[in-house]
Amino acid sequence: MRVSVKHPMLNTYSAKICCADLYSSKLARLILGDSLHPGGLRATNRLGRAMGLQPGWRVLDLACGLGTSATALSRVFRCHVTGLDLGAEAAQTSRQRAFGDPIPADVAFVRGDAEMPPFRSGTFDAVVIECATSLFADKPAAIAEVRRLLRTGGVIGLSDVTVEPGTLPPELDSTVGMMLCLTDALPAGGYPQLLASGGFEILDRADLSDEVLSLLADLRNRMAIWNGLGPTGSPGGDDWPDFPPDLLDRVEASVTRGDIGYWLYVARNLA
Ligand SMILES: C[S@@+](CC[C@H](N)C(=O)[O-])C[C@H]1O[C@@H](n2cnc3c(N)ncnc32)[C@H](O)[C@@H]1O
Repeated sequence: MRVSVKHPMLNTYSAKICCADLYSSKLARLILGDSLHPGGLRATNRLGRAMGLQPGWRVLDLACGLGTSATALSRVFRCHVTGLDLGAEAAQTSRQRAFGDPIPADVAFVRGDAEMPPFRSGTFDAVVIECATSLFADKPAAIAEVRRLLRTGGVIGLSDVTVEPGTLPPELDSTVGMMLCLTDALPAGGYPQLLASGGFEILDRADLSDEVLSLLADLRNRMAIWNGLGPTGSPGGDDWPDFPPDLLDRVEASVTRGDIGYWLYVARNLA
């Protein structure tokens, strides 16, 4: 099973930075909105409940994107949340807070690499990773770091896109595929294997693939509106890719067949 293969689009530090900046682009905001994963905060809250997050817990949101989940987790579960991301947006969100934005005081943002997170061992009670493990160039290294950062018995909540081997349409091995976290995603069975071989005990898993269908339906609606704007209404500016006309149909068919999905996993640090 493909677990440690480094995808050529992600295998250098500069490629990682470029990938990270992709998620703060206008294109990403248009496709995904503020919550950069299928299911948005509905899926985030479900993950938090499945993890049993408790008030006062120290939670790391690894690869936190725009900080939307980190802020929501702090509000809903009353945890102290640190968001870490390689992209410049996380640092910027942090600066905005410093200038008096009323984001909860229990949320902090740090810029850094998930494969080398700048925290002491045992700092956190829980680590959340939404729609990002699929992007890590060295997935076992990132999971080993999560284990180092968690106290004994601490929990990891991971949700991500899944792709069954050999089923990704070739045109999705591209920027758009990366935006949708498809290019280096593991099969549904790959994430539990990754966690188990990293020293975690699997506590729960759930199939949230319907959320990908909802995301596609939303995207279709937005594209219909943009198309109605005519040639000057280009939604993403110069970086808007040429979608093959049937691309969304093909992704939807892949989800319906079970080739592409979105799964949630919760596991406990056994160390
Ligand atoms: C699809 S977005 C998900 C963001 C956020 N977890 C959410 O669900 O809203 C993936 C995020 O992973 C970040 N990322 C990718 N590789 C990373 C790495 N090696 N270290 C830290 N962040 C990384 C990107 O910058 C991007 O913000």
